Parts: sequence; structure tokens; C-alpha cells
Amino acid sequence: VETALNEKFRSAPIVPLIEASDPNVAVKTVNALQEGGLEVVEVVLRTDAALECMSAIIKETSGVIVGAGTVLNLDHAKSVTDRGAQFIVSPGLVDEVAQYCMQNDMTFFGGTMTAGEVQRAYALGLRSVKFFPAKLAGGVPMLKAFSSVFRDMRFMPTGGVSAENLSEFLALPSVIACGGSWLTPPSAIEAGNYAEITKLAREAIDIARTVR
Ligand code: 3PG
Repeated sequence: VETALNEKFRSAPIVPLIEASDPNVAVKTVNALQEGGLEVVEVVLRTDAALECMSAIIKETSGVIVGAGTVLNLDHAKSVTDRGAQFIVSPGLVDEVAQYCMQNDMTFFGGTMTAGEVQRAYALGLRSVKFFPAKLAGGVPMLKAFSSVFRDMRFMPTGGVSAENLSEFLALPSVIACGGSWLTPPSAIEAGNYAEITKLAREAIDIARTVR
């Protein structure tokens, strides 16, 4: 999966968040993103139907890499793995989740926001982490400072990333991809305006192309 992810990130280093309660809506949202060129999605475990939505996306789309986000504990990690998630994202770093992912060859982006957390991730053997909440945690200057000491650590900034600051994050060589919810605004989804989501996806890819 790591190779497949890197392949997708070469043309589109962006991970839209899917927070859905209805599997049909979730699938339509992913179709709209894919039409706009985004083929990596993170389904966040923040609704009662999140697992069901993730399964529907896996079953009803093709060519999309589907990860699970807001994975808070080992039980979550196991259930999303059983349902076919291809990568796991956590807001923070829990050792047993990290270890489970490494033992099961599951790509894992544990959340970090301090040097101590990045160093703990490093000590656990991780070489890619989420940087969360990216904007509040110091944004681009913080990532530059991290990269000067953790030279082979790569980061996925998420939290406060938008079309306005995407290019600044993606300009950093240590940034694998940026994640965020700006690509899937609830207002567009509630209105059934999937064209808007496709447009946001295209806009994000255009921004990425200016710096990569
Ligand atoms: C996450 O789970 O990574 C964040 O909630 C995403 O933050 P955003 O809504 O600011 O993009």
C-alpha cells in the first residue's frame, strides 16, 4: 500500500476527509473526489455509521485507496483492518496502535505535534507521521524546525489546511501529503452539490502542481 499511496501522491498529494452518516452519500462524495482527480480518502470514525460508510466506499468504488481516520484505540484499528482499510490515521500516537499496524503491515500515520512526540514515533520505528493540528501546532515553520532534526521523518499535515495554505505545506520536501476536510464541505454534501466537491478537488490538484 505504501508504494500505491506514493504513486497516487505523486500526482495528487492530498487526502480528503470523509465524515459521513449515510453510505450512499459517502460513495457519491468519493466518486466526486475521484472525478476531480483525488483517489486517496480518509474515512473518519466520527459518526455511528462511519464503518459502514467505509465498507460501502471500499465495495462500490475502484481505484481509490481508502484509509480510516480518527482511529483512537486498538479496537478501532482492528475493526477498520478487518473491513479492509488500507491505511490508518490517528490524531495522536498510541503505542499499541502503532505496534499493531507495524505488525500487520498496515500503513500508519500517528499524530504528532511536539518534538517529543515525533521522537517517540521515530523510536517506535515510524518514518511517516501525521502533524496535527497542523496550523495551530506551528504550521510550516514548525515543520521546518522538525525536519532539521528528524531528517528522514515525513509528515502529513492535517488540521487547518485549506486551499489558502496548501501550497506552503506542499512546498516542504518533508511533507508527503496534506489532509483535510476543506474538500468535503458539509454544505455542499447536504445540498447534493457534488460538482462543488469535484471542483474543490481539481483546485487542490492545480495548487499542488504549482509547487511539485
Ligand atoms: C483531522 O482529523 O485531521 C482534522 O479534523 C482535520 O482538520 P480540518 O477539519 O481542519 O481539515
